[in-house]
Amino acid sequence: MSLISLPTQPYAGQRPGTSGLRKKVTVFQQPLYLENFVQALFDVLPAATGQTLVLGGDGRYHNRVAIQSILRLAAAKGYARVLVGQGGILSTPAVSAVIRRHGASGGIVLSASHNPGGPEGDFGIKYNVANGGPAPEALTEAVYQRSLQLQVIHSSDSPDLPLDALATLALDGMAVEVIDPVADYADLMRSVFDFDAIRRLLASGFRLRLDAMWAVGGPYARALLEGELGAPPGTVVNAEPREDFGGLHPDPNPVNAADLIAHLFAADAPDMGAATDGDADRNMIVGRHFVVSPSDSLAVLAAYARLVPAYQAGLRGVARSMPSSTAVDRVAQDLGIPCYETPTGWKFFGNLLDAGLVTLCGEESYGTGSDHVREKDGLWAVLFWLNLVAVTGQPVDMLVRELWLRHGRCVYSRHDYEGIAPERAQALMRELRAALPYLAGQTLAGQTVALADDFAYTDPVDGSVSRQQGVRVILQDGSRLVFRLSGTGTEGATLRLYLERHEPDPARHDLPVQQALAPLVMLAEQLARVRHWTGMAQPSVTT
Ligand code: G1P
Ligand code: ZN
Repeated sequence: MSLISLPTQPYAGQRPGTSGLRKKVTVFQQPLYLENFVQALFDVLPAATGQTLVLGGDGRYHNRVAIQSILRLAAAKGYARVLVGQGGILSTPAVSAVIRRHGASGGIVLSASHNPGGPEGDFGIKYNVANGGPAPEALTEAVYQRSLQLQVIHSSDSPDLPLDALATLALDGMAVEVIDPVADYADLMRSVFDFDAIRRLLASGFRLRLDAMWAVGGPYARALLEGELGAPPGTVVNAEPREDFGGLHPDPNPVNAADLIAHLFAADAPDMGAATDGDADRNMIVGRHFVVSPSDSLAVLAAYARLVPAYQAGLRGVARSMPSSTAVDRVAQDLGIPCYETPTGWKFFGNLLDAGLVTLCGEESYGTGSDHVREKDGLWAVLFWLNLVAVTGQPVDMLVRELWLRHGRCVYSRHDYEGIAPERAQALMRELRAALPYLAGQTLAGQTVALADDFAYTDPVDGSVSRQQGVRVILQDGSRLVFRLSGTGTEGATLRLYLERHEPDPARHDLPVQQALAPLVMLAEQLARVRHWTGMAQPSVTT
């Protein structure tokens, strides 16, 4: 055991963002940078005697190095046992499932989610608590405070452990169990869905293309879809996790998963397409010649949930992040169940799920999940859609079109302005916030402003308040504009502008989305001087 003292704190103030601490790989490669953060975390957690820690990552560059360091720190902290995924691999939803199944006190996920990987890419670390979900703000804040004062790092001196074969190893007095990364997760999926129905669908010639984007979703999708559910080999493409994700940006949206979109819009397109992100918690669903927006996906899952074995008794409630479209609100109203609106970030769903207030939740950013774990879950969403297609006999696009017919279409888009100088992004938000008190009641774009505020959320379970979660401007017809700055970027600031307009008229459901939203984009410009502050005439990414 060695004690490394830090006479001056080199990395004071490592502040985790929306989803843990995310930085360039080169930042994480600085001596003791990762150890500093993990030690700050271990210092604020209670004693680990007798406890189990889960450890794994999405296999990106630096994963293996980080895992060995964390094992040494965990031994010094006094954990009884660490469950580590074979080869250092565990998807984010699998970490959540393993924590819950094995009664672990928490887990560490190594990932920068959908951010690019490789030596020039990003790396990240996140702590999940005993319910399997991301640490609450109070804990991440305590870690940050501790990182300001940290003076000593406690680490084992043991050499690296071999993690490529299933085994039970020892590190000082701590047991290290190298586990199958898929097994627990696969069991959980079997308990949620009607595997027989999905098997019959796939046997009937229904063709699926799942693009794992050379990331961690691949092994899970292969084992379940090709291995167990009988999908033909080759259904899962880009399936082997690579340290640099094959140079792709493993973010499942139509821009980054352009190849999948091209396949689903080809003349001989398969019946359904899907993609998962770096750590397999995000998902994109695509029908034949039809892209499903994530907010619509959540609404469809909610509307048909009773057809899935685990949700047969109905949903207790649903939740969506504030910038997500209101499609699921309409379904919830129809079902007579509550719908909660939370700030961006999965951690806000944890209390609602734990308290049994909601069963399903989701975000516009290609994240959907339920109370089966405490993370969003990409493959779960794909299986959910397959289950629905199997038991309704309806193709993907029809399920969405029926939603629109019943509730109107929430025409929706997100415009991202990336790499803005942080002070200019802050200035935009400051100016916008300053204008808020004057907006309500004004007429803008021919409509009265029904509400203009900076979203604040009071957690209904623990009463904690999160302020300044994004500026929203809602017009009298329900159209919404939301402005917020990303909490996950690693280069400059990113402004996200979210646009939503409700279209009740079925004859207008197929109008191009950007065209339908153009008046709202003009209004956003008028309100926030987006071009001036970002220096960009167009968003960098539109989804
Ligand atoms: C983004 C998404 C958000 C999601 C988070 C982690 O955060 O917008 O919905 O929870 O990634 O996957 P942002 O960069 O907007 O802070
Ligand atoms: Zn992710």
